[in-house]
Amino acid sequence: MTQKVEITIDGKTVELPVLEATEGTNVVDVRGLISEGIFTYDPGFLSTAACDSNITYIDGDAGILMYRGYPIEQLAEKSSHMEVCYLLLNGRLPDASALEGFIEDIKSRAAIDDQFKHIFDGFTNKAHPMSMLCAAIAGLASLFHDGLDIYNAEHRHESALQLIAKIPTLAAMTYRKSIGKEFVEPNPDLDYAENFLNMCFGEPGAASTISPTLASAMDKIFILHADHEQNASTSTVRLAGSTEADPYASIAAGVAALWGPSHGGANEAVLNMLGEIGDDSRVQEFVDKAKDKDDPFKLMGFGHRVYKNFDPRATVMQASCDAVLEEQGIEDEPLLKIAKSLEKIAREQEYFIERKLYPNIDFYSGITLQAMGIPTNMFTVIFALGRMPGWITHWDEMLSSPFKIGRPRQLYLGPSKRDYTDINAR
Ligand code: SDX
Repeated sequence: MTQKVEITIDGKTVELPVLEATEGTNVVDVRGLISEGIFTYDPGFLSTAACDSNITYIDGDAGILMYRGYPIEQLAEKSSHMEVCYLLLNGRLPDASALEGFIEDIKSRAAIDDQFKHIFDGFTNKAHPMSMLCAAIAGLASLFHDGLDIYNAEHRHESALQLIAKIPTLAAMTYRKSIGKEFVEPNPDLDYAENFLNMCFGEPGAASTISPTLASAMDKIFILHADHEQNASTSTVRLAGSTEADPYASIAAGVAALWGPSHGGANEAVLNMLGEIGDDSRVQEFVDKAKDKDDPFKLMGFGHRVYKNFDPRATVMQASCDAVLEEQGIEDEPLLKIAKSLEKIAREQEYFIERKLYPNIDFYSGITLQAMGIPTNMFTVIFALGRMPGWITHWDEMLSSPFKIGRPRQLYLGPSKRDYTDINAR
């Protein structure tokens, strides 16, 4: 029996159906309000579902994250990023031959066309890697737009393979460009994460010297970032895609949205913040700044729109961080000391407890990436690399069934009608 709710406004009562979720919160279907001339108001979409989806489920109070029903803790421990990409795209775990075929599909698409590499000639070495990545992803449309039918499932799958295959190569190229070094070609003998690290830190034509611990930590970072339901960048991809825009352009819009320090740019902002704090003795000074309503400063890496308990990814990330620090022989890393003090304070002080502000994935991923020798300006690029399967799966899911162009309404608070006055009369 479908539940219903009633809204009464200006003496008129409208009955609205409640749509039931398989997990989590049911939703009130407000689509019927427009015919009654009523809008709802929810800036930031705190209590608004913009779509339905079968991909990822988050329970922010219970600290639950599942990709296609599989808990993130199990996937992080037992799976690989390639297998998670297959799971997100296809909705099921692959058998051995399907996984082997998928990995081959990705490896065979990893190289970048020689002509296309010149896109990087337009940047100086000072260009932020996220600026280069955003341009390069949009630029891929120049290679694949002609003849691409977004309503053809095979064309959509090919776009997914191209994007998952090429983003590590393009990401590594942004790094090599930023340090003024020549590009390293993808090596089909290497797994996805090791290949990415080798394209960043290896030498052209030389065998990989990437440590298995670092490759495994990077693969885990990709898994943890692979999807997160309707976050800001994924919602951007869906909104851009809802205009029937090219998929590469729609994903580039998501890359742009991810760059913000309130979102995927937080991992870079965490390290910059720890550097600004500079010493354990100044931690409380910055915590006080974060509490000050008149100060826009926020503790980067803390808080989350959905997680009002712990971020399950942060828990896995913290363990991975410890393994990397041990492998790298980093015990008394000063930034780590500051981070540990920050975390301790945030767990103890009322301001954070009453607002349910806990360390999120970006808090620990920043420290882990730093320990891996990744430069800070590459952190969000790595977040984008991990999130690529999530973005393209949400785009594909939207295109797989009837959808409407996203076009929010507004509460207008501007001037009422007034007549134009001649400049001499003003
Ligand atoms: C990601 O959505 C996703 O799923 C994102 C993500 C993904 O995988 O895609 O999980 C990745 O983006 C993680 C979040 C990374 N961002 C940061 O670490 C930046 C710092 N965090 C804040 O900017 C903030 O917590 C947000 C943006 C993450 C969430 O903001 P909300 O949900 O809009 O919450 P809010 O700003 O309304 O805060 C509620 C209260 C406010 O105080 P009061 O007005 O109630 O007194 O908490 C305070 C805020 O001032 N607050 C903070 C704080 N975050 C919130 N105070 C100090 N430091 C912070 N970090």
